[in-house]
Amino acid sequence: MNKMTVRDIKVRDKRVLVRVDFNVPVDPRSGAITDDSRIRAALPTINYLLERDARIVLMSHRGRPKGKVVEEERLAPVARRLSELLGKPVTALDDCIGPAVEKAVAAMKPSDVVLLENLRFHTGEEKGDEAFAKSLAALGDIYVDDAFGTAHRAHASISVIARFLPAVAGFLLEKEINTLGGLVENPAHPFTAVLGGAKVSDKVALINNMMGKVNALLIGGGMAATFLKAKGVGVGSSNVEADLIDTAADLMKKAAEHNVNIILPADVIVTPEIDFSAAATEVAVDKIPADQKIADIGPKTTAAFTKQLRASKTVFWNGPMGVVEMPQFASGTKALANLLTTLDATTVVGGGSTAETMDTLGLADKVTFVSTGGGASMEFLGGQALPGVTALLDRK
Ligand code: 3PG
Ligand code: MG
Repeated sequence: MNKMTVRDIKVRDKRVLVRVDFNVPVDPRSGAITDDSRIRAALPTINYLLERDARIVLMSHRGRPKGKVVEEERLAPVARRLSELLGKPVTALDDCIGPAVEKAVAAMKPSDVVLLENLRFHTGEEKGDEAFAKSLAALGDIYVDDAFGTAHRAHASISVIARFLPAVAGFLLEKEINTLGGLVENPAHPFTAVLGGAKVSDKVALINNMMGKVNALLIGGGMAATFLKAKGVGVGSSNVEADLIDTAADLMKKAAEHNVNIILPADVIVTPEIDFSAAATEVAVDKIPADQKIADIGPKTTAAFTKQLRASKTVFWNGPMGVVEMPQFASGTKALANLLTTLDATTVVGGGSTAETMDTLGLADKVTFVSTGGGASMEFLGGQALPGVTALLDRK
């Protein structure tokens, strides 16, 4: 990465304003954080700053409160979890700008940690409002961006704030960019990408950008239905993105030209409806009943994917192979997740729900890297510049 990092700037005794992505999943009933990966991923930067007696002012969004205070989306539970992980107090403030916040920050001592309230309680955050960014900037001497998960948003606390403070990357942002960048720039071959999830539309840019870089593309999940349809396979009542059938056909044509081996499901698990109590039936892909829909990849497909992956030196995976929330449709995804941990390859998993799956299965530490960014990793691997990275100071 050709951007300055927290290593390249004097942070000792400074007030360091750190943008993190603490947008963590929370159980709506208990309010408990169900996956704290994003909090743990920010620890290297926070600990580095603590070791240098900085005053650490953390800021994040959570959810999409759209400019209003939403009680369930406060950051106090995150502050409690961070405090446990750091083994020291973390003060959660109840706003992110204004006189009370300024007073609290002015009273901070070296190595104190404060977490501002949800940035998206103010409309200025998502609008990229300059005055709002300036009010945030007043709380620090240096700006550190460690929020890879939100690096694709040109929001006030992400890109606009960099106009007002020296802006450098934290260790997580650096690691994400270097790891994902390595996939695009110099992957060890064979390089296989496994893509799943509901929608082709989310993956078109990535597939296009990966042409000529990957050797094989394995396609599962809901999006496989659109690819199968484009090949003339009857997919029953599966959700097909009608407006993307031509795009899927075009991607397969391009893949052939680039010698990219696209592997689609040979068999699938079908069901009359996506429901916890619905039946799951294994069928060959050319035998999908008209009134049933694809809910997972089948065992023959898993075997074909396994063979390709065992022969690979680099693997990127994003998107579930089926409806992973329902046990009867989770086998393909679970098999893939487990397989990844056994490969003699660089294994990188995209963020969002795929990262959550790895965490739930207790496998996140057994692959090379799990990204903390869903949308951000898709945009980055799709070849788009990320506002959160562009805004930072260039390395001299
Ligand atoms: C995410 O989880 O996708 C990031 O935190 C960004 O949130 P957003 O998609 O609501 O902008
Ligand atoms: Mg998102």
